[in-house]
Amino acid sequence: MSGTSLAGLRVVVSAGPTYEDIDPVRFIGNRSSGKMGFAVAAAAAQRGAQVVLVAGPVSLATPAGVTRIDVRSAAQMHAAVFAQLPADIYIGAAAVADYSPREVATGKIKKQAGRDTLTLELVRTPDILAEVAAHASRPRLVVGFAAETDNVEGYARGKLANKRLDLIAANRVGIAGSGFESDDNALTVYWSDGARALGPAPKTQLADELFDLVVERLAGAAGKERHP
Ligand code: CTP
Repeated sequence: MSGTSLAGLRVVVSAGPTYEDIDPVRFIGNRSSGKMGFAVAAAAAQRGAQVVLVAGPVSLATPAGVTRIDVRSAAQMHAAVFAQLPADIYIGAAAVADYSPREVATGKIKKQAGRDTLTLELVRTPDILAEVAAHASRPRLVVGFAAETDNVEGYARGKLANKRLDLIAANRVGIAGSGFESDDNALTVYWSDGARALGPAPKTQLADELFDLVVERLAGAAGKERHP
């Protein structure tokens, strides 16, 4: 830990996957382990912030000093995050499902005799990160994550601009030793006029280094306010 204090600041972090139910026994999920988001919440608490962690379905211990709210679906994560605003910093580290079944079947969906295909109708979920960044009581700093298989900088900078973020931490997924299930990762953090590569390193170390950047950006924003 670098020791740079976040005392007095309220930080909301979302982490893990979301599960979108199809019927009482099936869901659409993804491979997010939640490790990066939990490490981010732990790093913020270690720097003295008041931290709320909105967690999708993961089997990870709650970091010391962190208030945890467990959710399952994208809709529940959306409601839980907005219930925690206002905040000074929002970090969206969750792998939120982009689509959810239009209807959840009340009973288990059975195979249909003579039919080889099944079509599920999916509808877009709310973009929690973009909505937080556009909210009337927008946190001073809104940070996103981007997991990409290719064109990492292009897609990450696109999300930075389109979602009106202050920082975006991007990583390449689909390569061994980094990404979803690993304890290690490598991130490149982008902002409007800069970038910094972090790692490869344990996610706990990356989370701490991410907060070095967060503190720098907060100081920069405060400086601009003082000297318009
Ligand atoms: N995100 C969100 N709500 C969603 C989808 C994404 O808050 N419904 C957030 C994620 O938490 C992450 C960022 O947006 O911080 C980028 O997520 P990602 O899945 O990489 O991007 P998408 O915007 O979903 O775009 P695409 O799937 O097309 O790459």
